[in-house]
Amino acid sequence: MKIGNVTLPSPFVVAPMAGMTDTAFRRLVKRHGGCGLVVTEMVSSEGLVRGIDRTLEYAEYTEEERPVSIQIFGGDPEKMAAAAQIVEGMGANIVDINMGCPVPKIAKHNAGCSLMREPEHAATVVNAMAKAVSIPVTVKMRAGWNDASRNAPELARRVQDAGAAAVTIHGRTAAQSYTGLADWDLVSRVAEQLTIPVLGSGDCVEPQQIVERMGSVSGVLVGRGVLRNPWILAQAADLAAGRPVRTVTLAERGQFLLDYIGLLVDERLGEVAGFRHVAPVAGSLDARAAAPARGRERWVINKVRALMSWYSKGLDGGSQLRVRVNAAESLRQLHEIIDEFFFAAGTTGDMVVLSA
Ligand SMILES: Cc1cc2nc3c(=O)[nH]c(=O)nc-3n(C[C@H](O)[C@H](O)[C@H](O)COP(=O)(O)O)c2cc1C
Repeated sequence: MKIGNVTLPSPFVVAPMAGMTDTAFRRLVKRHGGCGLVVTEMVSSEGLVRGIDRTLEYAEYTEEERPVSIQIFGGDPEKMAAAAQIVEGMGANIVDINMGCPVPKIAKHNAGCSLMREPEHAATVVNAMAKAVSIPVTVKMRAGWNDASRNAPELARRVQDAGAAAVTIHGRTAAQSYTGLADWDLVSRVAEQLTIPVLGSGDCVEPQQIVERMGSVSGVLVGRGVLRNPWILAQAADLAAGRPVRTVTLAERGQFLLDYIGLLVDERLGEVAGFRHVAPVAGSLDARAAAPARGRERWVINKVRALMSWYSKGLDGGSQLRVRVNAAESLRQLHEIIDEFFFAAGTTGDMVVLSA
């Protein structure tokens, strides 16, 4: 599959998820295989242009993750074009526009899904960006703003005409947020109409579902399913290739968490120059430099807690695991809990079957 001049080794994509799909998580998913593209957490165009460092780390990525798409949000065509140039300068393969975020804090600034309410303006944003950069500009949108305005088909045509190289549709409206089901019929209808690749997103939690959805789209973005099962893209690739689907043991699931903790603990420490692609920061003081040890420990614990709320779903004893992880106060405790749950004698070879 190609998006503009970027070839994706697989049509299965890690969906952008704010607060969840950081570079450490994406690298680990990528290492398990089957992943054709990763998209960063959304980052503010305003923040990128002004060089405010608090939010800029969301745009960071490492070489191992390529091809990488950096997702930006905003509603001002000039600022979005300038932000796209910064993204291109960071060496990203693709710049993606968030037209799906329903959160009022974002939507009220004429950004995120509120761009879907002004199709002409949305097209102006795409056009300004497409003219400003030579990397592909893509759009991720929802089915529409609400049930009375399911305008993804019309908007997708417009952004294609304005220069978008691909469109992803999450088949829910902003009003639905995450309730109900994604409307894949609508996604398929858009895919039939457009000449650029159309990717779909929503409710794929089993590898079979990803492969089935490929019947009507060029690619599938998987969000919550990857948080629950980081091997899901590799398993979908197995299925698509007619290979036996790989199984994942409890110990392997435990190791994923240990690897995630390890990458977070070491983040920015002793990394060689160029390892991490970062956005330019205004001023000389870079607050992204290593945090004090205690602050870092708290940050890692909070990250693992956030992942655990998804990762433990469907696991036998998952809710008790969640409670224990939420009560952990130190990395040492976290390690003990993981050891006990995932590596206890006699269970390490168990294959994990996640229940629905
Ligand atoms: C915690 C969370 C954070 C998300 N953050 C973003 C985001 O930053 N940008 C975006 O375009 N979509 C975001 N999404 C939407 C997902 O990319 C995806 O389209 C949606 O969750 C439906 O797919 P799924 O059912 O596979 O999760 C987020 C979803 C979740 C659950």
